[in-house]
Amino acid sequence: MLTKNKMFFIIKKDLSSLENLLHETVTSPVDLITDIGNHLISSGGKRIRPALYLLATKSNPNLDKDYVMPLAMALEMIHTASLVHDDVLDNATTRRGSATANAKWGNNIAVLTGDYLFAKAFAAIAKNDYGTRISERLATIVCDLSEGEILQNHFGYTIPDSIDIYYERIAKKTANFIATSCEIGAIVAKLSAKEIDALREYGYCIGMAFQIVDDILDLTSDSKKIGKPAGNDILQGVITLPVIHAYKHGENSEELKNIIENRQMSLEELNRAINIVKNSNSIDFARQTVTEFLNRAKNILPDSLPQSVRTSFIEIADFIGSRDY
Ligand code: IPE
Ligand code: IPE
Ligand code: MG
Ligand code: MG
Repeated sequence: MLTKNKMFFIIKKDLSSLENLLHETVTSPVDLITDIGNHLISSGGKRIRPALYLLATKSNPNLDKDYVMPLAMALEMIHTASLVHDDVLDNATTRRGSATANAKWGNNIAVLTGDYLFAKAFAAIAKNDYGTRISERLATIVCDLSEGEILQNHFGYTIPDSIDIYYERIAKKTANFIATSCEIGAIVAKLSAKEIDALREYGYCIGMAFQIVDDILDLTSDSKKIGKPAGNDILQGVITLPVIHAYKHGENSEELKNIIENRQMSLEELNRAINIVKNSNSIDFARQTVTEFLNRAKNILPDSLPQSVRTSFIEIADFIGSRDY
């Protein structure tokens, strides 16, 4: 599990309490909800969003743990809810190496459980009174996630005219969430306005890199390693950076487009499309874009952060560049 990594050393205890808090949160008088919640939490996950938030809070040594922790829980709950809904949209059968909620309990139950988890996150936020700024930021995550997923779904199986359309979608789906995780940690730690903005920008850049890496792994890795169905993006009409680049700059563009636009593609056609992308230099291009985002992220980290916090943020950026799961 990622959280055993040394970059998370300074938040190790908090990450371990987070697990208990997550299990407590999904405990419901309706046993089925408790079962699904426990299934989702026990199957793992990198916990990258709460980890980034917690790391930012370590910039201030005088914070009360009872005040800090519910926000970490809320971030992971919002993330989990969004994955439960995403797996319904993507018809995914596995996640984190286990069966998805939709595969195990059906789409209806999965959608309702996602709603329940969102509400649990917001109930904890309301109870602890973090102020309007943080509440607004967290609600905006859910709006962005929904906008990103709706755009992606509505314009599925179509290669966008420009890469900016892809960037806009992954910002909404992923980078803004990771940006907010860093930002609210900085707000809770009472950092200066300049430091808060810098940490938000850092989170945005690593978030963009994070989704591009996820999109590369979907094409280059295997389902066992990533714990979710590989090759599923093209199959479900989700057109990612390497595919857009291969269409614009590679060979066999028309063939690639025809396969993608045919919503009923066979497994053979899917593999052909993946190979067209892999045989172009588009994976390299995407990797280079990742490196640019990560360099931007590392350069923006304020020197004023405690050294241990700053180093961990740099290590997380490096991890994102090298992760293979
Ligand atoms: C998956 O997020 C969805 C993306 C934004 C790519 P994570 O890769 O953070 O998922 P878990 O929580 O570690 O399973
Ligand atoms: C991220 O996109 C999904 C959310 C932000 C909810 P993906 O669809 O690529 O995520 P995975 O690959 O299913 O984890
Ligand atoms: Mg998905
Ligand atoms: Mg993916």
